[in-house]
Amino acid sequence: MKRVALVAGSQSDVPLLAECRKHLEFFGIPYDEFVLSAHRNPEETADFARSAEQAGYGVLIAAAGMAAALPGVLAAHTILPVIGVPVPSSDLHGLDSLLSIAQMPSGVPVATMAIGKAGSANAGVLAAQILALEEPTLREKLYEFKQMGCKIPKEPLPFERPG
Ligand code: RP5
Repeated sequence: MKRVALVAGSQSDVPLLAECRKHLEFFGIPYDEFVLSAHRNPEETADFARSAEQAGYGVLIAAAGMAAALPGVLAAHTILPVIGVPVPSSDLHGLDSLLSIAQMPSGVPVATMAIGKAGSANAGVLAAQILALEEPTLREKLYEFKQMGCKIPKEPLPFERPG
């Protein structure tokens, strides 16, 4: 199966990707994580996107806040699908990042998720749906997920565990 690259625009965006990780793990999708800033390491970010397909990635997920250029910059340098997650890291609570990620010019799409945790979870699910086009086992897992009300089972709390 092709891998997913999870890219955070800053170390401070990494915790929001927990929901995404959980979903990728539920679907059994291999992933790698990176921190790259479109504004602070522009060359490295572009190099990463240019080599991502060759490196075996099938989908790129990018989480960024404020003037969230990261998903768009990745999309500018690759033909892989890019999923953007707006991070509510600013005084505008993510509305700035939502618009920055969604308002891409014609021909350079970024699949834009909801702000915050739901967007992070949905990025994982959408990546599974994209990879499922070539992975029959992933299709089965997506049907299972639907039957569970589109929620992954929660880990039982320590006091809920028998014994
Ligand atoms: C965005 O600005 C990042 O994605 C982060 O949400 C925010 C702050 O970034 P740093 O100041 O930590 O680089 O680019």
